[in-house]
Amino acid sequence: MSFIEIKNLSKNYVNRRNTKRAPDDPEQPGEMKVLDDINLEFEEGEMVCILGPSGCGKSTLLRIIAGFDTASSGEVIIDKEKVTGASSDHIFVFQQNGLLPWMNVWDNVELGLRHMENEEEKNERIQEYIDLVELNGFEYNLPCQLSGGMQRRAELARALAVKPDILYLDEPFTGLDYLTHLKIREEVVNIHEYIGKTMIMVTHFIEDALVMADRIIVFSERPTSIKMARKLDFSRPRNINKDPGLSELRDEIFLMLGVSYVA
Ligand SMILES: Nc1ncnc2c1ncn2[C@@H]1O[C@H](COP(=O)(O)OP(=O)(O)OP(=O)(O)O)[C@@H](O)[C@H]1O
Ligand SMILES: [Mg+2]
Repeated sequence: MSFIEIKNLSKNYVNRRNTKRAPDDPEQPGEMKVLDDINLEFEEGEMVCILGPSGCGKSTLLRIIAGFDTASSGEVIIDKEKVTGASSDHIFVFQQNGLLPWMNVWDNVELGLRHMENEEEKNERIQEYIDLVELNGFEYNLPCQLSGGMQRRAELARALAVKPDILYLDEPFTGLDYLTHLKIREEVVNIHEYIGKTMIMVTHFIEDALVMADRIIVFSERPTSIKMARKLDFSRPRNINKDPGLSELRDEIFLMLGVSYVA
């Protein structure tokens, strides 16, 4: 039995503007099928990257696995237990900025640790994770006094300090400049190696998935099914241009997503 099992999972949304469809349309009036009978299994400690066209249901799947949304049919089982709601052991890092703007970095990281009674242990934990994301010296800065990349690192520190069993990342590099994107990506790879926890990341960047993933999932257009679910055993650090296996896989995924020429 795998750590995370997604079984026959489907999700329909009610779409109010969708009530006048052609009579032969397979979708029910007012219903929009997003995920269609998805079956996936992830191992504990894996870095899973999910790719797919915009609107195919990647964030929806992540929300359902994390227990923030419910499936229309099918189920998600994590560590032998059926998911029925969100868990404090499973942390979500959203695409948009999630830091509380009136709290400094230290207080933001402390947010998830309020249950820790031993102050000394708590302070050590906060410092450990601020150091891990290389924000030491910026503990007392407010989010508006940090760059975009530093804010993203502070969010990561806050999520990781909780020591979650699973970390969900929904497009965590969106909005970052190219170099910061690459640096934070490298940090996430190092952090994943260091903490060894399961991470499930949605991204639009095929290169991110190739560099980071233990397993790549590629979704089709809606109604979404799985076009590829592949385990990657390339050694790290990975260089797409120097490893023919990786560049072939990149071209295969680009083709799968409808792009036939990559410069
Ligand atoms: N709460 C909701 N109610 C109705 N429809 C929704 C809801 N959430 C998402 N949808 C629809 O479900 C589809 C999938 O949305 P989702 O956000 O999961 O896509 P995505 O793959 O994450 O897209 P993107 O790459 O653009 O972030 C979209 O067509 C969206 O309009
Ligand atoms: Mg999304």
